[in-house]
Amino acid sequence: MSRYLLSLDQGTTSSRAMLFDPSGTIVDQAQQEFEQHFPHSGWVEHSPTDLWQTTLKCARDVLRKVGAKASDIISIGITNQRETTMIWDRQTGEPVYPAIVWQDRRTADLCRQWEGQKDEISKRTGLLLDPYFSATKIRWILDNVDGARARAEQGELAFGTVDTWLIWQLTGGRSHATDATNACRTMLYNIHDDCWDPDLLSLFDIPASLLPEVKDSAADFGSTLSGWLGGVVSIGGVAGDQQAALIGQGCFSKGMIKSTYGTGCFVVLNTGHEAVTSSNRLLTTIAYRIKGETTYALEGSIFMAGATIQWIRDGLQLIKDAKESQALAEKTGYENPVYMVPAFAGLGAPYWDPDARGAIFGLSRDSGIKELVTAGLQAVCYQTRDLLAAMEGDGAVVNELRVDGGMVVNDWLVQFLSDVLGVRVTRPQITETTALGAAYLAGLQAGVYSSLSEVGELWQTERVFAPKISRTKRDALYNGWQDAVGRLCR
Ligand code: G3P
Repeated sequence: MSRYLLSLDQGTTSSRAMLFDPSGTIVDQAQQEFEQHFPHSGWVEHSPTDLWQTTLKCARDVLRKVGAKASDIISIGITNQRETTMIWDRQTGEPVYPAIVWQDRRTADLCRQWEGQKDEISKRTGLLLDPYFSATKIRWILDNVDGARARAEQGELAFGTVDTWLIWQLTGGRSHATDATNACRTMLYNIHDDCWDPDLLSLFDIPASLLPEVKDSAADFGSTLSGWLGGVVSIGGVAGDQQAALIGQGCFSKGMIKSTYGTGCFVVLNTGHEAVTSSNRLLTTIAYRIKGETTYALEGSIFMAGATIQWIRDGLQLIKDAKESQALAEKTGYENPVYMVPAFAGLGAPYWDPDARGAIFGLSRDSGIKELVTAGLQAVCYQTRDLLAAMEGDGAVVNELRVDGGMVVNDWLVQFLSDVLGVRVTRPQITETTALGAAYLAGLQAGVYSSLSEVGELWQTERVFAPKISRTKRDALYNGWQDAVGRLCR
């Protein structure tokens, strides 16, 4: 009897595999970091082999840890860092270039040539013309890798985001597929017609033969080669990590909103069957597509959240472990004169400034490690307020925010977030909602759950953080942030 749902979560800094039982409880997990490559300023690359090998190793490790066999797995769900772009040879599976990561800014100049078409691009894709998305990364590879364009035009190459790459590897090249939540982040997908957009393909000069088949988020994505996990297992669920987190958070009704604090921070608001167009530079995106029915979302993306603390730890070496940040912030308190604007990879929503770079303001002779670390945590919360303000500007009424991701184990951070936002912030029992969402999708496909509402009933609160400071204090803190960003983005 199969007992587990296996979730493969391929993120920006690490790969993970988690086993869940059908009640959504974590049985065990395995995780592995891999190398980040920064060949030039603003460039970020991953080795496609690392992404695949670390994922496979984690899957094998977690099975070994619990003594499970392939036959114990009901179905596999895949979730992934989105937008990251790979192109490989269909015959050999050999990548023609490293993975160009979503944070990579190399195509900022290239983007400018479509300035005149940016409104049309947004109308069709729900995205803003920015190097963040896959289209200009694909174009860069076709233009810069010897022979790539000719091979693509002859149908010899395949494009994929990370989900597609993992499906390709797991199925031994038998399935070249993605799901709607990943497709909609490429800037080549028409979110209203739910298909690759031929006009955008010709605008960006990208051959259609490169593209994977787009499926529902719960669908038959193929079966693994038996050699990988010691038996054949079906792949039944796929979603980009932020959409998977929305599912793992049980945000299935219009108006429900979650914020995930991983490498970056992504606030996603379920807008139901309506693709709401933002007047405040947020993205309109596909939340999930189940049984052919598309649910949409508004999304605000912050590029540096956990990665800011990682930089403080590894780059500046001010702390040894991210866990130390809570005690340091408690010592500093809220009234920290130091403001850090972590625009290391430009600024995302609602500023969308790919050329901005990080800055620290308000330093004085008595500023030290604790103020800098606290400023890093506070920046994440201030940016969340930027996003919520933009969503409210688009008509959302936000009373409660569900949070998840590695950073929310930090109670100080979550309380400060609630205080800065002036809304209730809820932390669920299982904060690994990204992996959980992918497992739920796989379970839906396998018939473990009959509907999303059945899945929604499994969600449970661990703790609610309510705002404790006055509105005047909240606004004074936030004004300091706005002043700092204003000094950076002129
Ligand atoms: O859009 C990028 C996002 O999917 C990356 O997520 O969790 O790796 O920060 P994460």
